[in-house]
Amino acid sequence: MKKPRISVIGLGFVGLSIAVTNTKKGFITKGVDVDKTKIKNLKKGMPDFFEPNLQICLKKSLKSGLVEFTTNLEDSLLNSELSFLCVGTPSLKDGSMDLSYIKSATKRIYDILKNKKRYHLLVIKSTVLPQTTTKEIIPVFKDLIKKEKMDVVTNPEFLREGNAISDVLSPHLIVIGEYNHKSGKLLENYYRKFYRKLPETIHTNITTAELIKYANNAFLATKISFINSLANLCQNLPGTDVNMIAKAIGKDPRIGPLFLQAGPGFGGSCLPKDLLAIINFSQKFDNAGILFKAVDQVNKNQPKRVIFLLDKMKLLHPKKTISILGLSFKKNTDDIRMAVSISIVKDLIKKGVKIKVYDPMAMENFRQLFFKKVTYCASINECLKDSDCCLILTEWDSFRKIAPNQFSKLMKKPNIIDARRILDPTKFSNFNFHAIGLGE
Ligand code: UGA
Repeated sequence: MKKPRISVIGLGFVGLSIAVTNTKKGFITKGVDVDKTKIKNLKKGMPDFFEPNLQICLKKSLKSGLVEFTTNLEDSLLNSELSFLCVGTPSLKDGSMDLSYIKSATKRIYDILKNKKRYHLLVIKSTVLPQTTTKEIIPVFKDLIKKEKMDVVTNPEFLREGNAISDVLSPHLIVIGEYNHKSGKLLENYYRKFYRKLPETIHTNITTAELIKYANNAFLATKISFINSLANLCQNLPGTDVNMIAKAIGKDPRIGPLFLQAGPGFGGSCLPKDLLAIINFSQKFDNAGILFKAVDQVNKNQPKRVIFLLDKMKLLHPKKTISILGLSFKKNTDDIRMAVSISIVKDLIKKGVKIKVYDPMAMENFRQLFFKKVTYCASINECLKDSDCCLILTEWDSFRKIAPNQFSKLMKKPNIIDARRILDPTKFSNFNFHAIGLGE
């Protein structure tokens, strides 16, 4: 059977990763976005964010001639059989979901598909709250669905930033939310062509598929807030170490070892946003969101733990200089959306502390937010020089390699706060060393 031609609508992390991996697998692919500058840069092989292996894949896609980046939605839909809708669903001020991108995209898609002769499958990749597809998306296409000219399926995405390409190429699961067997089977057949061996696949109804996505992210967030709560206990119990507790409980197969890394709190464009959306959504149903609220509360307080430590060390003073290593919300990305570095730097600025920052990838994004309020350093050493305290906020591999004498030679005072637990405390016995979840 012939491979379907693909269009990907919305070229953020999810959309662009899907577009370039599809061409890698030999699918003719159109990548569509309303942002003209983004499209211009993609045509030149330049993504507007950093993601490991993305640029190489993008260049190979362009070279293969299978991909076309365009702002022309009509041409893309008319010349493809299957579309992935990957536009963003950001939060509004009250935490609820902003559906404006979804709504305007579906309206435009409808206006084009109503004139298309052949069948089209629209796959919703965007993270949308339960019942969004059945109440907001499907009604737009009702007459086309009735005439069997198209179908809509939901297919939540579980890729992580920093691992996007490899996650698309080997997902742990495919979830297909369908209202009829035909549409779900069509998507499954596409995946059979994409993967040599079909990954584990769950077929379910649309609303369940939507909720699976939120359940996944809310559970991951819960694990992190759980271990951070324990970290905060450990901090007050001399001789205890949250990492040892995580190691021990992680051996229980019912718990598992992943997402038990204590730290300054989770950030990024997904976990915090999806948690807020599910809290807001749950408000309609008595106290259904009580656990999610607690998870969010723990996370909001977590960066304050770092400030508390600095206060205890008497470093929140205008005469002190603090070096921050790590600005991105996690390693291997330049993304600073909802990164803890932002709230911590804001608090430090209020205290009048001098701040030096360094990150291997996120400097430019940080500069756009803080301009001249902090000093931007070109290297780890420049950042550590003459500092009163080093604060590690992201777990970049290059920070793990910093030797104790590198800190002591460069810094004015040997004060270290390891908020990511990447340094071995036993090597820092001559330092004033503090770490999240390490009893003092
Ligand atoms: C998250 C999910 O992991 C993906 O499965 C999902 O597809 C994605 O959201 C999404 O909804 O699009 P991502 O935001 O890229 O992926 O990042 P994560 O790896 O989940 O990390 C989120 C935050 O949690 C980071 O700040 C990270 O440092 C923190 N974290 C993670 C911890 O503090 N401890 C841990 O043990 C793990």
